[in-house]
Amino acid sequence: MIRRCKKEDLNEVLRIERICFNHPYDYSTFLYFLINDKNGFYIAKKNNQIVGYIIASVRGDKGTLVSIAVLPEFRRKGIGSRLMRESLAYLSRKVNYVELQVRVSNFEAINFYKKFGFEEIGFIPNYYIDGEDALIMLKRLRFKGK
Ligand SMILES: CC(C)(COP(=O)(O)OP(=O)(O)OC[C@H]1O[C@@H](n2cnc3c(N)ncnc32)[C@H](O)[C@@H]1OP(=O)(O)O)[C@@H](O)C(=O)NCCC(=O)NCCS
Repeated sequence: MIRRCKKEDLNEVLRIERICFNHPYDYSTFLYFLINDKNGFYIAKKNNQIVGYIIASVRGDKGTLVSIAVLPEFRRKGIGSRLMRESLAYLSRKVNYVELQVRVSNFEAINFYKKFGFEEIGFIPNYYIDGEDALIMLKRLRFKGK
């Protein structure tokens, strides 16, 4: 089941974040995104457990895919795709295109984004806190107007 994130979900989301990333976002960052745009933040639930999340944000005519993660034991079962489809449907009502940054070494995520039609459009050297470079990827959306 995919639904909007609520404040009471954030501790579970934080647990997923810490399992999935070496440099995780903290609670206040998640709270900021939730307050900033509650429609851009979705979670995936399976058997009453939160197993993944996705965050998108909107500024002007541009959407940004801030983060997506699925617990390791629930990957390759289509959960990330369901989260992405929900997020893209939301963004398509708001913006013309969506951009994201991803670690150049994150083959799994790059492959996942390519499957959804994201294209590599640039590169930011030294983008991450540990010095790793980022790829910039972009997808145009079928924006139907506000
Ligand atoms: C990226 C991520 C969210 C994908 O979630 P998921 O639930 O496994 O995704 P899906 O099962 O919907 O996969 C959809 C497609 O993405 C691609 N893909 C996903 N994982 C992949 C992997 N490990 N290797 C290669 N391709 C992969 C495949 O094309 C896959 O389709 P297929 O299973 O039919 O081959 C998940 O791997 C994850 O949480 N990674 C760690 C967090 C992360 O790096 N997030 C991105 C930060 S920028």
